[in-house]
Amino acid sequence: MTHYRKHVFFCINARAEDCESCARSGSVEAHAHAKKRLQEIRQHGPGMVRINKAGCLDRCTEGPVLVVYPEGTWYRYLDTSDIDEIIDEHILAGRPVARLMV
Ligand code: FES
Repeated sequence: MTHYRKHVFFCINARAEDCESCARSGSVEAHAHAKKRLQEIRQHGPGMVRINKAGCLDRCTEGPVLVVYPEGTWYRYLDTSDIDEIIDEHILAGRPVARLMV
């Protein structure tokens, strides 16, 4: 049995100003939004979902990126509405969101 039903990692890495990075594309805010939403519906914690920060996930030019385990599904998002769709569809309902996959 896994400790978390879903484990989600957001790259929040910030590189130098002349480099692309997830933090320069809103990943810090997206991570906070996802964690708050899951806490509000009491789905964040052991046996449920864990939203974690990560350093560079080495997909910088495709970012901002997150990855959902245990599936290992990678997503690129543009705003919090994309985050909400990933939470509602993939994380809670078990239906991966093909249009946001990388
Ligand atoms: S900065 Fe996010 S994957 Fe590298």
